[in-house]
Amino acid sequence: MSKFYITTPIYYVNDQPHIGHAYTTVAADVLARYRRLKGEQVFFLTGTDEHGAKISKSAESLKKKPLEFCNENSAKFQLAWDVLNISNDDFIRTTEMRHQKTVEALLTRLKDSETPAGRPAIYEGEYQGLYCVGCERYLTEKELINGKCPDHQKPPELIKEKNWFFRLSDWQELLLKKIKSGAIKILPETREHEVVGLIKQGLEDIAISRPSVKWGIPVPWDQEQTIYVWIDALINYLSAVNILDESKINCWPADVHLMAKDIVKFHAVIWPALLLALNFDLPKIISSHGFFTIDGQKMSKSLGNVLDPVELSQKYGADAVRYYLMREVPYGNDGDVSVQRLEERYVAELQKGLGNLVARVCSLAGKEQFVPLEFQVEHKKKLGSEIQAKVVQSWEKYEIALDNFAFHEALVASWELISFCDSYITKNEIWKLPDLDQEEFVKMMYNLLETLRHLAWQINPFMPETSDKILKQLLTDPQHLEKEMAKNYSELKNWGGLHPAEIKVKKGEILFPSLTIQKI
Ligand code: MSP
Repeated sequence: MSKFYITTPIYYVNDQPHIGHAYTTVAADVLARYRRLKGEQVFFLTGTDEHGAKISKSAESLKKKPLEFCNENSAKFQLAWDVLNISNDDFIRTTEMRHQKTVEALLTRLKDSETPAGRPAIYEGEYQGLYCVGCERYLTEKELINGKCPDHQKPPELIKEKNWFFRLSDWQELLLKKIKSGAIKILPETREHEVVGLIKQGLEDIAISRPSVKWGIPVPWDQEQTIYVWIDALINYLSAVNILDESKINCWPADVHLMAKDIVKFHAVIWPALLLALNFDLPKIISSHGFFTIDGQKMSKSLGNVLDPVELSQKYGADAVRYYLMREVPYGNDGDVSVQRLEERYVAELQKGLGNLVARVCSLAGKEQFVPLEFQVEHKKKLGSEIQAKVVQSWEKYEIALDNFAFHEALVASWELISFCDSYITKNEIWKLPDLDQEEFVKMMYNLLETLRHLAWQINPFMPETSDKILKQLLTDPQHLEKEMAKNYSELKNWGGLHPAEIKVKKGEILFPSLTIQKI
């Protein structure tokens, strides 16, 4: 069985989970669920990043102990992912012992390792630079706008301190080779070009410890310093898979590290260099999406425009939020999200699109007691044709899209099928058929019900609850439903999966209730 290890970034606990974090997490969840449907052994990891100056300052400003603050805020991320139906297999916190132990052991190993030029991978030195606590990194003069960090609108601190350094500069050539050979893929391609450009300009060694930051994991050989929060954080991907325990099967390397473009450099340059120095395999894909604004503005606490995924899910349902996030902005692009757009898509695509089609077909089938027991195998062979071809095409588009992180295109493929079914009903005036041509009616209804089954499976990674509700309406007998749920990927994709004798349709609850009622 092939394995699939997918990660999100671990989120800083000084922030509340917002729609930006939700986007990455839902995208990873869609892929995890899709790969599970395909029968792969999936390990899906997310978590929280809890050390460093930024977190301890936030805790201090609230007069809380750092760990107390982290416990409270990490729980908010876990809650948000529960509400959004995220199917992560693990949730890692960098304050957990399993992680701290891994960081200490790997840093010790790193200290004993050499670069390709035969020099020690780590050395002691002094560094002076402009540090932005918001970014938790040194900025260059060129990055500043009017002397301020463009992301945090604050001047960085001038810091001069003794640090331990990782000799990143010695890994330049090998990194370029690994990227060029495709051993590590950076997606989309434009980001790969940026990374290659950056490496070619020359890499500077990086400080991997901070003497002035107390809230962190102590450097194992120098208790005066703590490990730089980014080095600590990146190692989460190894701690979660028990990398130190050779007796356990672990699923390293990661197949996909998912994130926004803001942190690609850490994942596509520093992380692979560290892994090479530690003699671990490289992750296969670093895939990044764009950055979102809300109603055209940067998301920020001070502007008060942060969209809370929990509130949105309570109001519109988790599936609607998941759908909106995956449908609105093409993966990879920057984009704008708004409650208004969410509502527009809710009404046009969920209520009037999918919801209406399911209700229409189930009520047509239910009205005529559509249980065509006499409708057996030879008959089945004659079915399908045009609609069957559409379903096959739709799966092809859907799979190509999901294999290329094009979430919106996968949804477009399913929604094209929805439109096709709508016009199939209208064009053939199916509601008139029971009185005119019973056989034709039964045939067309079978086609529609079978197409709904395919749609239910296609939307399953995106909208798991809605998918279940649709299948339950088609197969009201629990035994038949169970059989459907147990199908493997190629079985569920096959045309004709609904056995005519097993179809027992019941019009179920409304999939997407009216917003005016919900909002009260
Ligand atoms: N803690 C680091 C990551 C360490 S991973 C080893 C960090 N955390 S973060 O909380 O700032 O999360 C950054 C990630 O959150 C982005 O890469 C992206 O996945 C998501 N997003 C946060 N804001 C976002 C937008 N406005 N738009 C899109 N994604 C956003 O960086």
